[in-house]
Amino acid sequence: MKTTISLSAPAELETESLVAVVLDHADPAEKEKNKDAKPQLKVASSDTAVQSAAADLLASGEVAGKPFEINLLHKPTGLKAKRLLLLSGGAAKKFASYDLRRLAGAAARTLKSRGIRSFAFIAPSGIPAEDAVRAIIEGAFVGNFDPDYYRSDRKDQKIDALTILTSGNTDKAALDKAATEAQIIGESQNFTRDLVNEPSNRMTPTILGDRAKKMSAEVGLKCEVYGADKIKELKMGAFWSVAQGSDEPPALIVMRYEPAGVPDKPVLGLVGKGITFDTGGISIKPADGMEKMKYDMAGGATMIGAMRAIALLKPKVKVIGIVCATENMPSGKAQKPGDVQIAMSGKSIEIINTDAEGRLVLADGLHYAKQLGCTHLVDAATLTGAVVVALGYANAGIFANDDAMYERIHKANEKAGEKMWRLPLDDEYKENIKSTIADMVNSGGRWGGAINAAMFLKEFAEDTPWIHLDIAGTAWTEEQKPWIAKGPSGIALRSLVQFVKDFAR
Ligand code: BES
Ligand code: MN
Ligand code: ZN
Repeated sequence: MKTTISLSAPAELETESLVAVVLDHADPAEKEKNKDAKPQLKVASSDTAVQSAAADLLASGEVAGKPFEINLLHKPTGLKAKRLLLLSGGAAKKFASYDLRRLAGAAARTLKSRGIRSFAFIAPSGIPAEDAVRAIIEGAFVGNFDPDYYRSDRKDQKIDALTILTSGNTDKAALDKAATEAQIIGESQNFTRDLVNEPSNRMTPTILGDRAKKMSAEVGLKCEVYGADKIKELKMGAFWSVAQGSDEPPALIVMRYEPAGVPDKPVLGLVGKGITFDTGGISIKPADGMEKMKYDMAGGATMIGAMRAIALLKPKVKVIGIVCATENMPSGKAQKPGDVQIAMSGKSIEIINTDAEGRLVLADGLHYAKQLGCTHLVDAATLTGAVVVALGYANAGIFANDDAMYERIHKANEKAGEKMWRLPLDDEYKENIKSTIADMVNSGGRWGGAINAAMFLKEFAEDTPWIHLDIAGTAWTEEQKPWIAKGPSGIALRSLVQFVKDFAR
């Protein structure tokens, strides 16, 4: 999708469709008191031509102004556009970039489903122009993605060109820069979603490694993909314990962004769980819903997409991306409950449940990242069903062994428009992963399951400032929404890229 910033008057622009946001200016307190109070709808644009084109409809009483309500006018009076799409954004008082991003996704999805391939979005007054440009472009990319590749009735429907109309006293160069950056982020997020969407027969660890290599060559990253021999040579006993059960070879993917002229430190390590299919292993999962476990490599795919964006955005900080990719299969070679494994760090692990495999591959991934010189670590993983019990589908879980790191990711979440919530890592939980015969068990049981998993990882991050993102509930959108298709969400990519950019300053 091509994106362009235009400073022209909305009325003068020839386009398939103008898109304008409609906000409700009624006093929310008044609405509380009187449920039948009429909305006070206004187009969020100072352009009088657009206002008058929408005036009759907004005055008609037919529009309630609820978020994502859509009204499409053809041949709008006084405008050169063929259509005017009025998109409601709810209460004006609460309207922010977060909402704008989703509205832009909804605009893309509404228009493309009608076979329209281009539109012009009027940046709403009230949101700083640069923020609006970013939100509209990122949101439109999210909305433009559909996962139906393998359907033979797939319609060729997508938005090819998006114009953002901004007005007022704006710095065009700054807006163009914001647009370019947002485009890189949007494309990278969809690149990640493509990887996650592929089923396990089409996204083996080897294929994931090949995709990382191809992407790296395109954007100028160093990338190495190692196989079983290297994993054994590095004594990655935890990673290998998962990989040993599968006929499909594992892949240790290492991507390096080391721009010239930046300080030796910090070095940020982005470590992703890349389980291309999680059967549970010998502790096998029930058949019902097991097909979903193709997305158990979403954390890894997020890191690959984030490295793509970082390589193109060129922040002044070193970053290493590591993905531990393997299947988790039952077989005659598979590890069994009760087995003891020695991780790369030397710590011993008693395997209680072979389905707690993500933490095993990450244990070695985190340790390896430190060995490669990473001074700060972030991992992302579809790690536990328990995080879905705790936070549902709306928030990813954040765990941190360092408050400053937490603050950084929290700020990045706000800028990127992604919701995540911190969960605790108190010493009390360490009891849950004690073993009688080894340094720890790999499963701390049901209660506090997401925390137990994070406590396990903490043993391998040790003193290095570290954040763990549990994206099990958020990496896959269970139901389609106005702004996003059902399927892989690409969660965490935008926050990670923002986190890295902020580190560079
Ligand atoms: N990949 C799963 C977690 C998961 C669950 C991801 C639902 C996405 C949706 C993970 O490897 C797993 O199986 N975790 C177990 C851990 C347990 C055995 C301690 C779980 O959550 O049940
Ligand atoms: Mn599992
Ligand atoms: Zn898993």
